[in-house]
Amino acid sequence: MCGIVGAVSQRNVEKILLEGLKRLEYRGYDSAGMALVHNQKFLINKAVGKVSALAELVQQSNISGKTGIAHTRWATHGIPSQNNAHPHTSENISIVHNGIIENYKELRSELIELGYVFLSETDTEAVVHLFHYHYKQTHDLMLSLQQTIKKLQGAYGLVVMCENEPDTILGTRSGSPLVVGIGIDENFLASDQLALRQVTDRFIYLEEGDVVKLRSNSIDIFDQSFSPVVREEVVISDVHDAADKDGFRHYMLKEIFEQPEAIARTLDGRISHESVVQDLLGEEARTVLSQVTQVQIVACGTSYHAGLIAKYAIEEWAGIPCLVDIASEYRYRKVIVPDNALFISISQSGETADTLAALRKAKASGYLSSLAICNVPNSSLVRESAFSLMTCAGVEIGVASTKAFTTQIVALQLVALMLAEKRKEEHKSIVQALHQLPDYCQRVLELNDRIEKISEHFVEKHHALFLGRGVQYPVAMEGALKLKEISYIHAEAYAAGELKHGPLALVDSDMPVITVAPNNELLEKLKSNLEEVQARGGKLYVFADQSAGFSEDANTQVFNLPHVPACIAPIIYTLPLQLLSYHVAVMRGTDVDQPRNLAKSVTVE
Ligand code: G6P
Repeated sequence: MCGIVGAVSQRNVEKILLEGLKRLEYRGYDSAGMALVHNQKFLINKAVGKVSALAELVQQSNISGKTGIAHTRWATHGIPSQNNAHPHTSENISIVHNGIIENYKELRSELIELGYVFLSETDTEAVVHLFHYHYKQTHDLMLSLQQTIKKLQGAYGLVVMCENEPDTILGTRSGSPLVVGIGIDENFLASDQLALRQVTDRFIYLEEGDVVKLRSNSIDIFDQSFSPVVREEVVISDVHDAADKDGFRHYMLKEIFEQPEAIARTLDGRISHESVVQDLLGEEARTVLSQVTQVQIVACGTSYHAGLIAKYAIEEWAGIPCLVDIASEYRYRKVIVPDNALFISISQSGETADTLAALRKAKASGYLSSLAICNVPNSSLVRESAFSLMTCAGVEIGVASTKAFTTQIVALQLVALMLAEKRKEEHKSIVQALHQLPDYCQRVLELNDRIEKISEHFVEKHHALFLGRGVQYPVAMEGALKLKEISYIHAEAYAAGELKHGPLALVDSDMPVITVAPNNELLEKLKSNLEEVQARGGKLYVFADQSAGFSEDANTQVFNLPHVPACIAPIIYTLPLQLLSYHVAVMRGTDVDQPRNLAKSVTVE
C-alpha cells in the first residue's frame, strides 16, 4: 500500500528518497513520485509502474535538492497515472498522503468554487489545495496544517513541503503510521522505519493526531491539541537488512526457508523443557489471563487464518470458547461481549486499518483486556493494546505472508497454553513438540524439489480446490489464499466433509484437488471424501502423513510428510502448500513478491 519518505538535510537527498521508496516497494504500489525543492522551486518527477522508472527519470533530469518528499501510490481514487501519482502540488505547496480522505468530494466542490483547478482524480489533491488556501491567508505552515486537518475526515499520514520555506517539512498522522528518523544534521519522515534504515537507526514513532515540524537540526512535535510534546526515541539495533535476498530468487522463497529459524526465535526463552513461561507477558497479564472465560479473535487475510487455527488450541487445551472474526466484519456488527472475555488481535504489520478499528471498538465494548499478536514492535496495534506478544519472524517483504503466518500460530499456541494454566499436566507433550518444530519444518522443506516438479501440472489450470478437515481446514484455506494471491489461479478451500454439498459438482479431470492429510482421528473420514473425488476423475495431490496409507496412481500424487504430533501439524502442512503456490507462480511468470493489486500493509479501510 502507499509509502511515504521525506528528508530535510544539508546534503542532496534524492538518492536517499529513491532508496527509501525502493525499500517500501514490498508494500505494493502502482506509481511513484518525488518532489525536491531547489532554489525555492519544486522539481517534480512521477512515473507509472516501478520505482526504477522514477529513478531513471530523476537521473535523466539531473535534479537534486536538500529537501524532498517522495511517495509510492497504491491506487484508491483514480487509475494509476502520472496525474494521480503523488506528490500533489498547489502552487508553492507539495504534499504526499497515505490513507483516504472520506469527505474529499465536499472539499473538492468548495475548493473549485474558490477557483482551484483539479488535475487528478485523487482525494489528496483536495488536501493540497486546502492547505494552499490556508497558507495564502496565514503565511504560517504550522497554522495552515492545523486548519487543514481540522477539516479532514478519514485517515491520513501527510507530509508537506513549501517552496517558500525550503528547509522545513511537516508531517502529521491520523489512522496511518508515520515515523521520524533522526540523523546528524538531517532528519527524515517515513510511513515505515524500514524506508530509513540505510540512513539511521534512531526513530520516533508519532502518535495519533501528532504533528511534527522537521528541519535538518530540529524536530518539534505537537500533540492533537497542538501542545508541544516529547516522544520517546527508539534505537533499533536489529542489524538484519531485509532488503537482501540472500541468494534466493524471491523474498517469498527466502522467507519460506527462514521459517525454522523464525519459529525457533519466536519460541526462544518462552518455553522451558515442559511448560510455557507463565510470566511471558508480565505478572499483570498472568492475573488477567487467569480470569478469561471467553476469547474473541479478530484479524484480516492470512492473520485471520492463524486465528482460525488458534481457535482449536484455545478450545481444546484451555477449554475456553473462542470466536474468530474477520476485522472488517467485526467492526460493523453488533457484538455481545460476555463477562471476562479477552480480545485478541493478530496482525503481521500492526497497521491494518480494519484490525485497528476492531481493536478500538473492542476497547470501548467492555472486554476484560486486549492482547495483540504482532510482528512489528511499536506498531499502532501494539501500542494501543493492553498486552502484546511479538512474533519474531523478522521483516517480511513478500506480500504473500509465510513466516509471519507460521510464527503467529506458534505465538497463539503459547497464548493457548497460558490460558490453560490449570491443565498444566497436559502441557508437557505440547511443549516438547514445539521444541521439535523447527527441525520438522526443515525436513518438510526438503520436499521443495519434488514440489517444484509437480507445479508444472498447475501452470495451465484456471481453478484448484483445497480440502482439509478439522484444524487442517483453515490450513487448506491458507493454501488456497496463497495460490490465488500469487499465481492468480482461482482457488477455493472447503472442509472436506462439505464436498458433497456443492463443490463436488466442479470436480472433473481438469480440477486439481489438493489435500492435507495428517494421520489423525479424521483420516478415515477424509479418505472417504477423497474417494468421492477419485470416483469423478478428479486429480488428487495429497500431502499426507507417511503412515497414513495413501498410494499413488495415475490420478493421485502423494507427498509423504513425517509423522508429527497433532499440535504442530497445522504448521507442518502449511509449508508444502506455500512451496506449491510459489513454484506455480514462478512458472506462470507472475510478480511473486509484489502480486498485482495487492498490498503488504493495508492501511486503508
Ligand atoms: C494484506 C496482506 C496479507 C495480510 C493481510 C493482513 O492483505 O497482503 O498478507 O495477511 O493484509 O495484514 P496484517 O499485517 O494485519 O497481518
